[in-house]
Amino acid sequence: PKKVILDVDTGPDDAVAIIAALLAPELEVVGICSVNGNREVALTTDNTLRVKALMGADVPVYRGCEYPLVATLTPGRRPGIPRREGQIRPTGSRIQGDHLPFPATDLTEEPESAVTWLVDTLLHAEEKITLIPVGPLTNLAVALRAAPRIAEHIEEVVLMGGGHRVQNTTPMTEYNVWVDPEALEVVLQSGCKVTVVPLDATMECYLTQADADEIRGFGGPGAEAVAFLVDEWLRDYRDDPAMKGYPGVPVHDALAVCAAIDPSILTDLRPVCCHVDIAGGYADGQTCLDLRARLEKEGANCLFAFHADREKFAATLKKILKNG
Ligand code: BDR
Ligand code: CA
Repeated sequence: PKKVILDVDTGPDDAVAIIAALLAPELEVVGICSVNGNREVALTTDNTLRVKALMGADVPVYRGCEYPLVATLTPGRRPGIPRREGQIRPTGSRIQGDHLPFPATDLTEEPESAVTWLVDTLLHAEEKITLIPVGPLTNLAVALRAAPRIAEHIEEVVLMGGGHRVQNTTPMTEYNVWVDPEALEVVLQSGCKVTVVPLDATMECYLTQADADEIRGFGGPGAEAVAFLVDEWLRDYRDDPAMKGYPGVPVHDALAVCAAIDPSILTDLRPVCCHVDIAGGYADGQTCLDLRARLEKEGANCLFAFHADREKFAATLKKILKNG
């Protein structure tokens, strides 16, 4: 199996991604790092440990960075983050609160910080490791700044973040990149092979009520948890006028995991030159693509997935959950 490290800010779709990665025979999860993102890092770590406990998994969890690299240092630039416990609690939702609705656990994170562990593990790895960050890129950016040679030990970075035509946080930004724009820019300039799985792809890869029902039928803690999360998420969307007409729920982070297993799920995957707007203005955190033809050959710093195959994604996820 392919050795992978997950980097998560565990909310519902990160949970699906973790479950899929733990169950997929194609992947060996070496460790899971948490980061500030969907919630403050204490909560994303706790949620990650709940998923680990639910799955009975023997995988170490490392707590990562509490703050973005730069974005919260300027007063007013990021007023809402890091989100503190109880700060944002959408009424009625069972999956968008501080804690995922899985049993609390006595499991604890490892004593080492995520960044220290990442550096040590990568520098001493006998084979290259694939990184799958599905939250803000803070941990990897700090690790790359602290020990640039880790880049030589990274097989590929398959990250969920950014958007070209699709955004979800400000008019120009996707959430993970909005939280820590500078961190993605560090990763894009690192020389690592980077595959970007943006909203353009993840919003095409929704799961429906029929998918949830089928997945529940597989049985087992992983499939049942995924079916439960999708059910609840669908319920939230039914009450959300902004999602009216959208045929399901997008489990963004699970697409990155499935793409690490089978890149052909990402269709229209093109080499592009991508930089992040870090100027602090209206488009702060935007993933800006240079699509001029010349740069596809010369200046590309990532592969960017403009589309993805929903049927293939759903089939891959179901196969993992069925056999898990
Ligand atoms: C991303 O933001 C987070 O809320 C999700 O977990 C996903 O990683 C989608 O924009
Ligand atoms: Ca996430």
